[in-house]
Amino acid sequence: MSHTPFPPRTERAVQGRAPLRELTDELGVLYGGDWNPEQWEPSVWREDVRLMREAGVNLVTVGVFSWARYEPEPGARDFAWMDEVLDLLHEHGIAADLATPVASPPPWLGVEHPDTLPVDADGVRLVPGSRNQFSPSSATYRAHALAITRDLAARYARHPAVRLWHVGNEYGQIDFGDEAAHAFRGWLRERYGTVDALNEAWGTAFWSQRYRTFDDVLPPRRMPYLVNPTQSLDFRRFTSDQLLACYREQHAAIRAAGATQPVTTNFMGFFPHVDSWSWADDVDVVADDQYPDQADPRSPADAALVQDLMRGLGGGAPWLLLEQAVGATSWREHNLPKSPERMRLDSLQAVARGADGICFFQWRASTAGAERFHSAMLPHAGPDTAVHRGVRRLGQDLAKLRPVTGTRVPARTALLFDWESWWAAEEPGRITERLRTLDQVRAFYRPLWDRGIVVDVVRPGAPLDGYDLVVVPQTYLLDDDAAKSLRAAVEGGAGVVVGPMTGVADRNAHVLPGRFPVPVTDLLGASGEEWVALPDGGVEVVGTQPWAPALAGRAEVHAELLRADDDTDVLLRFAEGHLAGEPAVTRRRTGPRGGTWYVGAVLDEGLLGAVLDDAIVRAGVGPAVPGAVPAVHPGSHVFAVTEADGATGVEAVRRGDAVFLLNRSGEHRDVVVPGRWTDLLTGADVVDVVPLPVHDVAVLIPVDPTMTNSPDEPRNW
Ligand code: GLA
Repeated sequence: MSHTPFPPRTERAVQGRAPLRELTDELGVLYGGDWNPEQWEPSVWREDVRLMREAGVNLVTVGVFSWARYEPEPGARDFAWMDEVLDLLHEHGIAADLATPVASPPPWLGVEHPDTLPVDADGVRLVPGSRNQFSPSSATYRAHALAITRDLAARYARHPAVRLWHVGNEYGQIDFGDEAAHAFRGWLRERYGTVDALNEAWGTAFWSQRYRTFDDVLPPRRMPYLVNPTQSLDFRRFTSDQLLACYREQHAAIRAAGATQPVTTNFMGFFPHVDSWSWADDVDVVADDQYPDQADPRSPADAALVQDLMRGLGGGAPWLLLEQAVGATSWREHNLPKSPERMRLDSLQAVARGADGICFFQWRASTAGAERFHSAMLPHAGPDTAVHRGVRRLGQDLAKLRPVTGTRVPARTALLFDWESWWAAEEPGRITERLRTLDQVRAFYRPLWDRGIVVDVVRPGAPLDGYDLVVVPQTYLLDDDAAKSLRAAVEGGAGVVVGPMTGVADRNAHVLPGRFPVPVTDLLGASGEEWVALPDGGVEVVGTQPWAPALAGRAEVHAELLRADDDTDVLLRFAEGHLAGEPAVTRRRTGPRGGTWYVGAVLDEGLLGAVLDDAIVRAGVGPAVPGAVPAVHPGSHVFAVTEADGATGVEAVRRGDAVFLLNRSGEHRDVVVPGRWTDLLTGADVVDVVPLPVHDVAVLIPVDPTMTNSPDEPRNW
């Protein structure tokens, strides 16, 4: 059976309005998790819905892994049990996020049609027995997936319990097999038109790789030595597009059945195999799965970054946290538990950063199967447990946060991030494999989080109007559009901070000839000529007169040989090694405020924080709540973060009219918040100072009749 590889983008059902609005107006903050009733007897279902109600659950995701139950034999259909499940949910006033079950085909599909199974880069065909055993390029898989989804959608499009559709699960499969090879060639034909253009783009004059026809091209399977970086980059682009084509087909089938509910799928934050920017327009609401590592002390900052990305993907609109763990995960090598307090903090952090729904994997712990030790809202030991009490408490909290639904999170700082750039930067054959884009993105984000500065994650090239500070960590592919929007930002008075290994290559991953970062050297007033891997232990970097001569720290992994123009300041210099005496960080003043900074090395946290402090001050951005900042940075020599009110360790975010204060300090804090407020969580009146017990959260709204809660309108704080 044939199918169109790239069906056109589907119309959003809810064009022109916030897709979740109807649901959140009715239910408030959405709260729940994955529910897998097919693992239980119907008597358990009834106990489940009762307990869900008691816990404040108002949304559950059902049917994610139900394909084998719906279609036990090829072509058979058993939907009666799902009828009962959805009716039961409806009776109890719980909304359903109904999944299309296409992430885990029944074993018979792979056995009868091995062409549906993915092949890895070594040519090994993966087998059923786990999940995700499908090739996004398999026509047979896609036909079967469409058939089951069409029937499912026809049956439930108008079921009153179904309020949201969830396509597949965590799309991310890669296939290197023959059908993928065929589809890859089609994708390349569409992209390049002629094989000459392909040869040009891939630089096949190198190592005698010239192709005579598209038919000779293969996916980047196991090779004797280093892969052609553009071939590999294009295969990543293709894989993301191929998965998107699967999603679009499913979305279209749901719409064709007359369903008008919002349709989405669950992203996985900075997941490497899907370019979520290119998917974002196809989901009616952005949804994400987040599993911060409890063993990592910086995971609250990293989670905040992912949440700021989710807002970015949705153009600032509210998004859904569709999965997180209540306690421990079971897929890491060593899974530390999450305390109920941390679970509450992290959940309310997501609401603070724009989530209108907080859900978990999963409602009831599975007794069998690969995830039997994964935490759940209802643990094996039942409702009389610390975990479940935490779940009930969160349900009560979220019920009080209805006023924040639909509102936005204002930010004056943008951070650029791009999947294609990440991919291209990490193709093999580079100076150091230790320089990782995500490490850099996190490194530039963390000092901002430490200082309480809220960030929007923005795609390079998007307009930067309204941002006073733009941070550009390792953007290896910085094209003309991206350079243009940075230029406009600088002309508008913003500060722009550019990290190392930026503006190195073009969209084909060819190194741009000239001094780097080629597209923006004039903007930076500085330029580089050599990328330098640093010896283990790094090198010393020191502050310069008159900027911060007492400042010293280290650069590790990667540095660059830079030259500063005459009107550009050198803020830091290398003190030893190959680059001794050369500039490490430069600053060009572009007007009374703003400026451009070039960070030509991977700096330690203290030094990078000091550079960002300089940019923060000159750009005039500040924390969302001046007295509350998560951490006082030891390297903060230039811009002293105030500790006066003792509120350090408090993550503070404004959303609409509300101020979220999350005490992550491990101690009691009194946070200064000038004015009169009501705490939505406790109902308490607050005047000027809010006492915040250890691990606690306050959500303050102003007691001021002139301040209205205006959804979708960022407030100018
Ligand atoms: C993912 C999946 C879930 C489950 C969880 C476990 O998010 O979508 O089905 O496997 O991980 O953490």
